[in-house]
Amino acid sequence: MSFLSDTLSRVKPSPTIAVTTMANELKAAGRDVIGLGAGEPDFDTPQNIKDAAVAAIAAGKTKYTAPDGIIELKQAICAKFARENGLTYEPKQISVGTGGKQNLYNALTATLNPGDEVIIPAPYWVSYPDMVLLAGGEPVAVEATLENNFKITAEQLEAAITPKTKWFIFNSPSNPTGAGYSHDELKALTDVLMKHPHVWIMSDDMYEHLAYDGFEFCTPAQVEPGLYDRTLTCNGVSKAYAMTGWRIGYAAGPEKLIAAMRKVQSQSTSNPCTISQWAAVEALNGTQDFLAPNNETFKRRRDLVVEALSAIDGITCPVPEGAFYVYPSIKGLIGKTTDKGVKIENDEDFAKALLEDTGVAVVFGAAFGLSPNFRVSYATSDENLKEACARITKFCAGLK
Ligand SMILES: Cc1ncc(COP(=O)(O)O)c(C=O)c1O
Repeated sequence: MSFLSDTLSRVKPSPTIAVTTMANELKAAGRDVIGLGAGEPDFDTPQNIKDAAVAAIAAGKTKYTAPDGIIELKQAICAKFARENGLTYEPKQISVGTGGKQNLYNALTATLNPGDEVIIPAPYWVSYPDMVLLAGGEPVAVEATLENNFKITAEQLEAAITPKTKWFIFNSPSNPTGAGYSHDELKALTDVLMKHPHVWIMSDDMYEHLAYDGFEFCTPAQVEPGLYDRTLTCNGVSKAYAMTGWRIGYAAGPEKLIAAMRKVQSQSTSNPCTISQWAAVEALNGTQDFLAPNNETFKRRRDLVVEALSAIDGITCPVPEGAFYVYPSIKGLIGKTTDKGVKIENDEDFAKALLEDTGVAVVFGAAFGLSPNFRVSYATSDENLKEACARITKFCAGLK
């Protein structure tokens, strides 16, 4: 009898962690490594949010809470949805989890039966397919193309839906491409979903506030109110508020789904950290003034990276609408050889050789379900980015 469960054997180890481990090993060996793999802002958490956490500790707000969050935070979340997305929710329709990740996982665990299919546009955030597998479902990837700026079309969505489809996972702006769907592009997808009432929509809006060049964020339940009753709108404070380590995410949806998610959470982790919940109340209710300057910084860095990578022969780098990632194609470099004699057959070879030869750590595209590409996170200093781009340029110029 196998000690490990059959379910776990369906899940692959995280390729992003593999890259990070390799980068850390090189660093420990004294190499000058520039990490462009991390999916978190390099900014510190704003002071007012930290102060709210300290005040919560001082006031003794350090005990268990309701499993899916304090009422004050649920109210702040309802106010956020009304203010920013024109969506009306009541606190009983809100679930607060330990990071955005837990809400997605709870929802899938609470709803998937063996054989249920979940449509995931590729390239995708690495965790979606594995979470679906852990919950017993079948991920169905729908490949977006670089030519369509990494966005899937209505026709592709229509073709992927079967009687077994339970969820469609939507993520805009996206990890790993930064692609953001305009209102019209999203409406084309929601029109398809309106024709298939058995399909639920999980919208992962984690990068809502990280958008550039006037991109107007929109979310499915807002674009098509007819989908409100079968949409789980997920978001969190991790990225825009530079709170990745605080572990607070939230989701809003139909009461029966939220109750089912609460059941999963109450028998697994119970409430997210109480102190972090009070900090998140301040994040949502307090000043939002730091968002604009942070975005200016991200936009400057995006432009710097896109310009430098686009100038490289063999690389195509679309300009993304949001998040803090770019996802260049290396189609023009496949088949070439490094000056150490390593042949670049695919994007994993490229990322490994780049790390070994130049110390620049990026994540290869196969990890996100679309090759040959690599993901750069530009959530690091301008100096690091300039140096990393210079090294990538030199490395590519040396390929024969
Ligand atoms: C698209 C997307 N959704 C959700 C998450 C999870 O966020 P959290 O750290 O709040 O769990 C991430 C984190 O990288 C992400 O990129």
